[in-house]
This record gives sequence, structure tokens and C-alpha cells, in this order.
Amino acid sequence: MRKKFPENFYWGAATSSHQVEGGNVNDWSEWEKTNAKRLSEEAKKRWPDWQKEKFPEMFQEKNYISGRACDHYNLFEKDFEIAKSLGHNAHRFSIEWSRIEPEEGKFNEEAIEHYRQVIQSLKSRNIEPFVTLWHWTLPIWMRDLGGVKSKKFPKYFSRYVEKMAQVFGQDVKFWITLNEPNIYTGQSYVIGCWPPQKNNVVFYYQVIKNLIKAHKQSFNIIKNINPQAQVGIAQSYNFFEFLGGKIINKIVGKVVGYVWSLYFLDRTKKQQDFIGLNNYYRKTVGFKSKKTDNKFSNLSWEIFPEAIYHCLMDLKKYQKPIYITENGLADVEDKYRAEFIKSYLTNVQRAIQEGVDVRGYFYWSLLDNFEWDKGFWPRFGLVEVNYQTLERKIRPSAWEYKKIIENNSLD
Ligand code: BGC
Repeated sequence: MRKKFPENFYWGAATSSHQVEGGNVNDWSEWEKTNAKRLSEEAKKRWPDWQKEKFPEMFQEKNYISGRACDHYNLFEKDFEIAKSLGHNAHRFSIEWSRIEPEEGKFNEEAIEHYRQVIQSLKSRNIEPFVTLWHWTLPIWMRDLGGVKSKKFPKYFSRYVEKMAQVFGQDVKFWITLNEPNIYTGQSYVIGCWPPQKNNVVFYYQVIKNLIKAHKQSFNIIKNINPQAQVGIAQSYNFFEFLGGKIINKIVGKVVGYVWSLYFLDRTKKQQDFIGLNNYYRKTVGFKSKKTDNKFSNLSWEIFPEAIYHCLMDLKKYQKPIYITENGLADVEDKYRAEFIKSYLTNVQRAIQEGVDVRGYFYWSLLDNFEWDKGFWPRFGLVEVNYQTLERKIRPSAWEYKKIIENNSLD
């Protein structure tokens, strides 16, 4: 049977401002300055031997400084030309709040003009823009006011969103207010490995509460300005499998899975036109570990294609259109990427056949990029970036993905 995808399916890739643009001044770029040395030293104990051999750059301080990154801020035309040549008809990127509002209440016209050109550049190539408004970075002044944990966050964030909707509302149909509120809050406020490095479960609820409020307000603002707009979030939802067959594991699994992945969606479901799903791997949790012959990415994430099927089936209950806003793998040799894309899409297809309304797929990422506290060494791109010369080189898997796009099918 031919595995057709629905008509008008959106096919593309995703990026985020801080990871590709270069030249950003925000809470992350500041944090990198004071943490790069520590991170380069910690690489010794953080990664297994085979990764250390393959990626010697993880011991270098400069690996942990985003710096000019891919210089996508200046090279976006070139990058979108590549996306076009790869058959993409949609692209997800984020607007950098710290560029738009470098000082509290003062909007930077040049930055606005830049993103106007970015949007036009996509549209002129018939590539539909999916715009993320917040992919984790903050203007320095917002950080100094207490960041996302501050009671003032929803108000300031909504004001920035209002400005964006006013200037781009007629050109942009798809808006993603927040990227992965759960991952950000976990890493930044519970585990404490990302700025502002807090370690407190109570903070988790305060921050999530602020993000819920910020999303709801933003949703209303965008819809008021353009009722045709489609507004959602990108939710990280990975497949947790609890092992051991014990009933207690199953119960714990359900509770953890719910609080971690679905709480935010449940609290905001009236303010979601669609669900953006970011999906990468399976996590097995339990008293004994499961032996597996599956392959692992360079980040040791298990390649487990059925994961996406299970997650999509769980999301079916919301009865909303779903866009897969991220799915990808760190694979410097491009050894598994083509197979990864095909096998995950086979499972997306299966979910579609079982009634899930999936309308688009964005591979993470178009380009190799700055992978947060891990820096540049993990390579997720369909396109390889040489960080010395900024040269772009299309990886073979990108052409395999193009065939799927052209056929709109997995044959
Ligand atoms: C994030 C991206 C990140 C990717 C791979 C997602 O959680 O949204 O920014 O690069 O995962 O780790």
C-alpha cells in the first residue's frame, strides 16, 4: 500500500534564533561567558569514551560560546535557498526577543525590519513561516527583573507578543508562543543546569504558572489582531516506558508522564488551535534496564520510532490538528539520519491512519547548531555547517527526505 500523507501537508525543518543566528546578547550569551570553562572541564565525566574520541571539541571552551553560531542572521537567504532546493514548503524559526526589545519598552526597528525580511524571504519561496515567539532566551533586562519566575513575566512577554502580532500579523498564519515550557522549567529551575540554575521544585510550579498565563494572554492578543491566525505551543512529549511489569511502576509512570508532559496542555487546551509536538526518543524507567539492539544517537538518545506513534495516539484525545514541530537526531556521520526520518514517518503515518490529524513535520534541524549547554559538537543538521568557514554542505539524508516530500509518501 502506498503510504500517502494528507494533501497540503507541511514539510520542512526547524531552527531557533539563539542556536543559529549568532551575535545575540541575552541571558544565555551572558551565562555562556561564565560557564564555558566549567562545561569544557565537566565533559570529561559527562560523556562516555567513544564520544570523547569522536568529538574532541567538547573539551574546548569555545565549544560552549554561541558566538557567531551559523551566522544565520546574515546568511538566512542562502539557508532558505537550500531549504527550497530540498523541497521544503514550510519552515519553523524563532524571533529573538532580546533583539526586538533590547531595552525594556523600547522596540528596535532594525530588528523588526530584519524579521520582516526573513518572513518575506520565506514567503517569496512559497515556504510557509511557522514563527516561535520564545525559544528560551530572555533579554538581559527581563533576566534582571527575575526572568520567567517573576510575576511581571506574563505582562512583559505579552507586550512583546502584541508588538509582533501587530507588525507581522498579516503575513504570519502559524504562531508558536512558547517552546517546550516543561523542558525549560525542568532544566532551568529544577535540575538547575541551565540559566538561572535554580534547584527548587516549588519554582517549577511558579514558572509553569507564569508560562501558562503568558501563553493564554498571547493567544488572545494574536487572535484579536488576526482571527485567522493559528496559535499553539511546541510541547516536548517523549515516550516514557516504565519497566518491570509492576502495577506501581505503571501508576508512577502515568502520574509522572501526565505532570511532565500533559499538564500544560490540559491547562491551556482552550487556547490552543493546534498542538506542536517535539518528539525525540523513548526513555525507559524502572528497576531493571531493558536490553535493546536499537541504535543510539551521538547524544546517546535511543532511536525508537514507535515512540512517536504512542505519543501521537495519546494526543488524539485533544482533537486538535497536530504539527510535529521537532524530530531529529545528532548524527555527525549521517549514518542513521535517513533511516531515522523514514522510520519515524512510518509511525506518523500509522497514527494518521488511526485517525490522528497530523498536518506537518519539521525535522530538527535545518542546520547544525548550538546545542545549549552541550555547545556545538552534537550535529543535528540536514545541512552540515563548518563553523570556521561558515560553509554549508547538504548531507545525503537531506536528499532522502526530499524524495519523501516530493512523493508526499513513504514509497
Ligand atoms: C529543543 C531544541 C534542541 C533540541 C535537541 C529541543 O528540546 O527545542 O532547541 O536543540 O531539542 O536537543
